[in-house]
Parts: sequence; structure tokens; C-alpha cells
Amino acid sequence: MRINKYLAQAGIASRRKAEDLIKSGKVKVNGKVITELATDIKPTDSVAVENNYVNVNNGFVYYKLNKPKGYISSASDEKGRKTVLELLRGVHTRVFPIGRLDYDTEGLLLLTNDGDLTNIITKPNSEIEKTYVATILGKISDDEIKKLCSGVDIGGYITKPCSAVKTEETETTTKLKITITEGKNRQVRKMLAAINKEIKFLKRVQIGEIHLGGLSRGEYAKLNSKEMKYINKIKSN
Ligand code: URA
Repeated sequence: MRINKYLAQAGIASRRKAEDLIKSGKVKVNGKVITELATDIKPTDSVAVENNYVNVNNGFVYYKLNKPKGYISSASDEKGRKTVLELLRGVHTRVFPIGRLDYDTEGLLLLTNDGDLTNIITKPNSEIEKTYVATILGKISDDEIKKLCSGVDIGGYITKPCSAVKTEETETTTKLKITITEGKNRQVRKMLAAINKEIKFLKRVQIGEIHLGGLSRGEYAKLNSKEMKYINKIKSN
């Protein structure tokens, strides 16, 4: 799509005014100023006007949240527990979480009103990596890590190969970074239980190329231009 049409569709300016913005060097595509009116924008391009990222997503919005423990990842709860939506105070578009984190799990949760993206990330064969930091009670041997990574039985289902590294060890606990490509219910907890490990703390830190980053507990942010570039890439695959 032509850049002026793209900017007009994003509500930045009329096509005519968009051309003025382009000619005056205020428009960047993928971080570079463009002044060529004939520039075509691809779905994977990121566009900024006066260094503000432009979102042409047909009304779609994309957020990341650092979910604290004690919140459920759905829009309502029959038991009256707090929902993650209560944390999105400044969001006035109806969004829903992409997949779930357990009530007791913290960390990265994506929220959107884009059903296609939700399907892409949550479909069983998505292959999109999700990385967790797990603190377990006691120690774990290299053989146990190998077993965990080669696939374990979590109640009649053998998990796909994954990766896991030990990042910290104390007298009583061990911290692991585990990356899986699946998203079965309580998968990481069940995988560790399958090798007789008890989880003390579980947090998701990454989904694909989107990182939890510096968000504090309960904080949320709109996805930035780099993250949107990744979203557009997986949507156009
Ligand atoms: N695996 C779990 O056990 N819990 C989560 O919340 C996510 C992945």
C-alpha cells in the first residue's frame, strides 16, 4: 500500500497532508527517513511519524502485561476471583488474553482483540517458543534435565522436545529457564512433576520475540514497533 494511503488509513492525516509530512522528512519506514511519495508499505514494515509509531491494524490493539499471581487469565470468573482485565485500567478496547497463565503463575501475557493472532500463537503446532523461569525445590541433575528436555509423560501425553538450563542453585532451590513450543494446560508444572520436582515459583518471560522486559508486576504496555514488526511477521507467514 502506498505510504500516503497507509498514513491516511491510520488516521494520521489526509492523503494530501500525509504527502507533506513525507516530503518534509517526518516519516520513517523501518527506522529510515523516506521522502519518496511512491514508497510502498508491506505488512511487516514499521512506520513512524515524528518518531511515533503508526498503528494500522484495522482497529486491532496489542498489549503485554506482567500478570501477578492471584489473577485469572480470563474475562470473568465464576468464583469471583480477580481477572487480568482488571489490571488494564487505561484500555478502553475489549481485549482478551492470548492463551493462559495459571492463577499462581506470573509473567508475560499478551492481550489483544485480534482473533487471528490468538489462533496463530495458541494453535497446537504453532512452534512459537515460550520461555519460563521456574524455581524448584531441591536440586536437579543433568540426567533429569535431559529427561525433561527429551519429553515426559504428563498424563497420557508425551511432551515435545524442549530446552532447559539451570541458571541458579542454592542449598534449597534451583532456578531453571525452560523453553517449550507447546501450551498444554499447566504444562511446565506437569513436566516438572513428571520428574518429581516441586515448583515454588513460575514466571513466563518470553513469547516468540516478545520479552517481558522491565514491566513490573501488574504493569502493562502497548507493544512497541519492534514487537509489532514481529507480530506482523508471524501473521504474514
Ligand atoms: N505452564 C504452567 O504450568 N503454567 C502456566 O501458567 C503456563 C505454562
